[in-house]
Amino acid sequence: MSTSAAIFDLQGVCYRYPDGPRGLHDCSLRLARGRRHALLGANGAGKTTLLQHLNGLLRPSAGQVLFDGAPLDASRAGLRALRQHVGLVFQNPEHQLFSAQVFEDVSFGPLNLGLDEATVRERVRAALADVGLSEQALAPVHQLSFGQKKRVCLAGVLAMQPQVLLLDEPMAGLDAPMQQALTDLLDGLVARGVTVLLSTHDIDFAYAWADHLHLMQAGRCTASLPATGLPDQAGVWRRLGQPLPRVLELHQALQRQGLLPETDPPRSHEALLGLLRPLAPPEIETP
Ligand SMILES: Nc1ncnc2c1ncn2[C@@H]1O[C@H](COP(=O)(O)OP(=O)(O)OP(=O)(O)O)[C@@H](O)[C@H]1O
Ligand SMILES: [Mg+2]
Repeated sequence: MSTSAAIFDLQGVCYRYPDGPRGLHDCSLRLARGRRHALLGANGAGKTTLLQHLNGLLRPSAGQVLFDGAPLDASRAGLRALRQHVGLVFQNPEHQLFSAQVFEDVSFGPLNLGLDEATVRERVRAALADVGLSEQALAPVHQLSFGQKKRVCLAGVLAMQPQVLLLDEPMAGLDAPMQQALTDLLDGLVARGVTVLLSTHDIDFAYAWADHLHLMQAGRCTASLPATGLPDQAGVWRRLGQPLPRVLELHQALQRQGLLPETDPPRSHEALLGLLRPLAPPEIETP
C-alpha cells in the first residue's frame, strides 16, 4: 500500500446518467487517509453519485478516480479487490439488502471473500453487536424497521473490515442513542486507521464530528477544508449559500456582545457550555 496522504483523489470527474441528468461535473476532491470526512450539499448536489464512484459502482465519463495513487481498475477482478477495501452503505437500505434473514445478509460479503465458516460467524457476530442488533440475528429482514434495516446494511459492510468506509446519510432515520453509538463506532474505526466519508445534511453534526468538510454543489466539490478552518472561512462559506453551524454563530454572537473572552471557537454545544460555565455568577449562599 502506498503511504501517500490521499487515499482517494478525484480529478475532474464527470458523470452523466444514461437518461439525462448530470450527476458530476468536473469534480475534484482529495480524501486524506485515516481521517473523518463529511460530504455536504443540497438534494441533487451529487453526493450519492460521488460515493458510488468511489467503490466503482459508477464510472466517470471523463476525469479519473485514483485509489491509493492508482486509477481504479474497472475489470471484474479489479472491482472485486476494490470492494474488499472500500465499503459503501447505501442511502436507502432497501437497495442494499437482498437476503431474507439478518444473519444471512450480513454473512454474504465475508463468505464471498472465501473466509472459513468460523471466521465468518465471528465477523458477523461482532458486526451485529457493533450495530446493536445481536438479538435480531435470526429475524426476517422484512420485519425490521427502517432504522434497523440501515443498521443491518452497516453490519454487512463492517463484516468486510474495509479500509475505507463510505456511508450515504447514515444518521438519517436513526434514533438519538443509535446516532451516538454510530458516532462512537466510527471514531473507533478511525482510531484503527480506517478512512470514513459520510454524506449528511446536518452541518452541526458534520462540524462537531468531521476532520474535513467537503461541499458538493451542482455536481462539483466547491469547498474542501478542515473543520477547524471553518471559523476563518465563515464568509466564504456564507457566500456559497451555506448555513454556519449553530454553535459557531452562537459563539460569534457571544463574543460580539462581550459575553465571552477571546477563545478558540468550540466545535460542539458541550464545548460551548464548557466555556460558559466558569462565567456563570457564583451561587448565592442562603443563610
Ligand atoms: N438513478 C438516477 N438516474 C438519473 N439521474 C439520477 C439518478 N440518481 C441521481 N440522479 C441525478 O443526479 C444528480 C445528483 O444526484 P445525487 O443522488 O447524487 O444527489 P445527492 O446529493 O445524493 O442528493 P440527496 O441529498 O437528495 O441524496 C441529480 O440531478 C439527480 O437528479
Ligand atoms: Mg444522496
